[in-house]
Formats: sequence, structure tokens, C-alpha cells
Amino acid sequence: MCGIVGYVGPRPSQDILLAGLARLEYRGYDSAGVAIVDGDGRLGMRKRAGKLAVLRDDLALAPLPAGATGIGHTRWATHGGPTDGNAHPHLADDDRLAVIHNGIIENFGALKQELVSEGYTFRSETDTEVAAVLLGREYRETGDLVEAFRRTVGRLEGAFTLLAVHQDQPGLVVGARRNSPLVIGLGVGENFLGSDVAAFVEHTRNALAIGQDEIVAITADTVTVTNFDGHPVEVEPFEVTWDATAADKGGWSSFMAKEIAEEPEAVANTLRGRIHDGVVAIPELDGLDHLFRDAQRIIIVACGTAAYAGQVGKYAIEQWARVPVDVELAHEFRYRDPVIGPETLVVSISQSGETMDTLMAVKYARERGARTLSICNTQGATIPRESDAIVYTHAGPEVAVASTKAFVAQIAALELLALHIGRIRGILSSTEIAHHVRELEAVPAKIQHVLDLESERIAQLAHWMADTRSVLFLGRNVGFPIAMEGALKLKEITYIHAEGFAAGELKHGPIALIEPGQPVFVLVPSPRESPVLHAKVVSNIEEIQARGARVIAIAEEGDVAVLPSSDEVFRIPLAGPLFEPLLAVVPLHLFALGLATARGLDVDQPRNLAKSVTVE
Ligand code: F6R
Repeated sequence: MCGIVGYVGPRPSQDILLAGLARLEYRGYDSAGVAIVDGDGRLGMRKRAGKLAVLRDDLALAPLPAGATGIGHTRWATHGGPTDGNAHPHLADDDRLAVIHNGIIENFGALKQELVSEGYTFRSETDTEVAAVLLGREYRETGDLVEAFRRTVGRLEGAFTLLAVHQDQPGLVVGARRNSPLVIGLGVGENFLGSDVAAFVEHTRNALAIGQDEIVAITADTVTVTNFDGHPVEVEPFEVTWDATAADKGGWSSFMAKEIAEEPEAVANTLRGRIHDGVVAIPELDGLDHLFRDAQRIIIVACGTAAYAGQVGKYAIEQWARVPVDVELAHEFRYRDPVIGPETLVVSISQSGETMDTLMAVKYARERGARTLSICNTQGATIPRESDAIVYTHAGPEVAVASTKAFVAQIAALELLALHIGRIRGILSSTEIAHHVRELEAVPAKIQHVLDLESERIAQLAHWMADTRSVLFLGRNVGFPIAMEGALKLKEITYIHAEGFAAGELKHGPIALIEPGQPVFVLVPSPRESPVLHAKVVSNIEEIQARGARVIAIAEEGDVAVLPSSDEVFRIPLAGPLFEPLLAVVPLHLFALGLATARGLDVDQPRNLAKSVTVE
């Protein structure tokens, strides 16, 4: 939520800031703004409600003074609606200092009261302006922007990344972070700050991860990081493993279309380097066998799509490693006083690695003595840094707000992990592991087959269904989380009512929703791999068809039992039961994309949402 970029160097900063914001727009897109300091110590600021394009047009008509020091922000509103006035940057009372912010300052009400009683006035409804005014006050007292930051962050509660520039300090950007992301990009004679590396990856792939409760000051040639107490800290360098072209649309109509097409590669890259001659070996987990040997139970914490991946992971870990697994929404887990301790392994799943609900769940678990492992797609993100162990998914940058390729990569990573734990705990023989590994390695080609075979037909179906008001999704076993994922994706980007149900639950209530013409997607298990479940789901199809539902089945190639009672059948190749979700979800992702497109909606930036949810 909210994208942040900062720049100091020899080049005019406006275009660099706008390009960075364009890559961060997935984080929030209800308003945007920049503040620039030029060599003569003039501070220019412009901010506009609406998408980045509105700001860009405005700046094209009336550019700011050319300056080589600047900060930029793209917003997802929390305090105060998406107006010009509430957009960032916010100025201190003397208009000499500009601040941008990601997060929520929880005690802003009390601080604002204090400042109002001192005679300060405010121009916006945001929590951020309080930080700007405080920082301005502290700067006047100290004449030192870093010291002013230190004093200011000491007063703030909640989550924040703050960046500021001051007109008396051309060539300096100062930032601070607590529970909210910020990374440094190291250029040659220039330096960058960003909410994530996408902000600067077209200029440099050399990055530094800033830790919790740290302050960073960048000039063109220097980077200084201290903790909130003023002590210098070591920062962790890393190299970004993808280049700027990976985060471009590359000729696709939308990032989501591109990212669905990248699902085979996302799985292949997640498996790469972790399977050798039929054996799973995850280099990041070397020396950590005790985590898995000692665990008496596993709790998977995640939100949204990542939590559905977690549910598939539960089936895999329980079946292959025989460890009991619970999957919990991170925000529910965190606030319900769960029974956990050193014998619990908490596995978090997050594409962004910044989801505040998940981060808080991980921190809470650690405080209670649990061990933690993070499955994450974003290098340098906060959640992996807060965890005892990390398994990165290598899906590449995911820009569309709706998560697609990261979802299949998360399932692949969980299945690798399940096989890894199964080996360590002596549950699986090497022959069994080799068999499952072969299946997993075949998944990318099978996803590609589904994309090649069904993309066009699904787009056509979505086009015909453009006016549909409600779609239901049914699945059983590992098909259940896939049904939930299909429904979430549809709600998220088409704004129509969609629900996912466990097919067996139908008769306990949801079947009352079925009326003539109601579209229902049904995930049908393989008749060869799961004959009992298959028969049950076919019966469920017959029950809803008898009540007039329009049945759209996702079924294995050659499964003829579904034909008499289905209106449409989309085919997936034969795969073992735990690999089916990786294939069955593909038509559902394509359907959501197709329906949103047919309804003329912004597929990549759906209303009210942001990709990285960094508020609780
Ligand atoms: C759905 C979606 C969200 C995210 C959720 C968690 O398409 O994108 O439900 O899955 O907000 O985000 P991460 O994985 O970044 O923690």
C-alpha cells in the first residue's frame, strides 16, 4: 500500500521518480505526487488525485524546477479520501520540508492535538501531515535532518516508511522504516530508495535491505544507515535477480495476462536448482533439518490467495510428511491467543513479503517461541527477514494486483517443502520422492498445455458471460481451495458476486442458491487418480444440473462421465491428485481475466485494492 521512491544524483529527478512510481503503482493508485529540491535550494511539489497519468500530464504542462534530489509517492488511501489535498507529499508548516509516508501512524490523533495546542494548523486529513509538521519542528531545533528524523520516529506508533527532503539540504534524502518496506538502490554517483526494488531496477540491480527501526540517509555518493538510537548498523547487500524488462508488460494487453502466461515459468523457476537426480535439495534449508524434525505441528499463516496456496500445502505436507498442519488467515491467528511454542513451525506465505497481517502473525509466533519459515517471492522483503528460514518462490515480479503466477509458484514451493520434510522425517522412500518429483517437474509443460489448448475458448465463454451477476465455484479435497481462489479472483477484478464452496457442503445449504441459469464452475478430480472423489463430484454436478445450473466443468482429458451433465468442459492433463490444483487453477485465472476484459474493466488495478497490503 503506497509506493515510495527517492533519488539523489546528477540527473534531473522528475523523470526518474515518475518512472519509479510507474513500477510501484501496483501498490496504490488513488493519487500521486513528487517533491524535488534543486541546486538553488528551491523545493517544488506537485500532487494530484487519480492515477499517476494525471500527475504526469500535469507535470508535462507545468514542470517543476529541475532538481536532482527528489521523492515520489503513489497512494492507497487510509486516513482521508483520495483528494489532491490528502495526496503525498505533505509539507511541514514552513513549506521548507516535504514528507511521503507508507503505513499508518496509530497515535496521530494525540500528536495532532498536541501540535494544534501549540498553534500548528493542518491542511489535510492525513496521519502523514502530523509526521511532516513534527519533523519540520524538530529540524528547526536541530538543523540536522537525520537527528530530526530520530526525534520524530521516537514519537510515532504504528507502521511507517517515511522519506523527506528539505530545501536547505539539496543532495540529501532521509528515510526511516518500521514494519513497512524500504530498500536502497546503489548506483554509480547516484543512489535510490524504494518501497521495493522495482522502483530502481532499471538503473541498478545492486541493493541493500534496511532493517527494522532504521534510518537511512542517501547522498549521490554515500549511504548511511543507523538505528533509531543513532548507532551505525550493518546493512545486507543483495543483487536483484531479475531485470527491468521482467517488470514490463512486454506487448501483453495487461500485466495479469502476461503473468498468467508466465505460470509455467514461475513453477519451473521455483523448482530450478532444488531438484537433483530425483532428490529434493533446497539449498536455503541446508543445516536446518532440526526445524522439521522437531516440529510437532505446522501452522501456515497467510492471507487471500496465499492462504489458498497454503491449504493445498496442508494436504501435501500431511500426506507426504505426516505432520499435522493448520492453515490460518494471518489476521485471525494473530489475535486469537493460539496455543504455540517451540514445537510449532509457523510457515508464512506471502508474494510481497510485506503483508502487514502476515508480518504481525510471524512476529507474534516468534515472540511465543515458535520457529518460523517464510515462503516469499520478493527479495529483501520484511517477512523473510523476520523468519528463521526462507524458501523463495522465483515467480519473478508480479505487478497485477490479482495474484496468479505467484499462486502456482507458492504451491510448487510448498510441495517441494512437503517432500523435503517427508524425507527428513523418514516418511517417504527415495522411490516415492523420485516419483513425486517427476510429476512436479512435468507440471510446467502441463500448465503450458492448458494455456495453449483452452485460453481462446475460455476468453470466448467469458465474453458470452459478460453480463453474468453471480458465479459459483465447487471443489472437493485440493479442489476446494482452488474453487475459493477462482471465486476470489472473479470478485477482485470483475466486481461480480462469486463464492467458492466445498462440493460436499452443497447439500448443507448453498444448493439453495441454485436457480435456472446459475453458472457453476466445478473442479472435477481425476477418475483415474481419485475414483471415489470423482464419483461424488459427478453426483454433485448432477444435483445442481437437475436444478437448472449451468455447469462449467474443469475435468481431466478423457473424463467422459462429466459430459452428460456439463454445459461446458475445459480439459486439464492427467496429474497426481496433489498436482491437479496447479493445472485446474489456470482456466479459472483465465476466466477472471476474460470476464474483466469483457466488462471493460482495468484488469491490473481493480478498484479499492492495492497489491501490497501494508496496513492491518
Ligand atoms: C488476490 C491477492 C491477495 C493476496 C493477499 C496476500 O489475488 O492478490 O489476496 O494474495 O493480499 O498478499 P501477499 O501474498 O503479498 O502476502
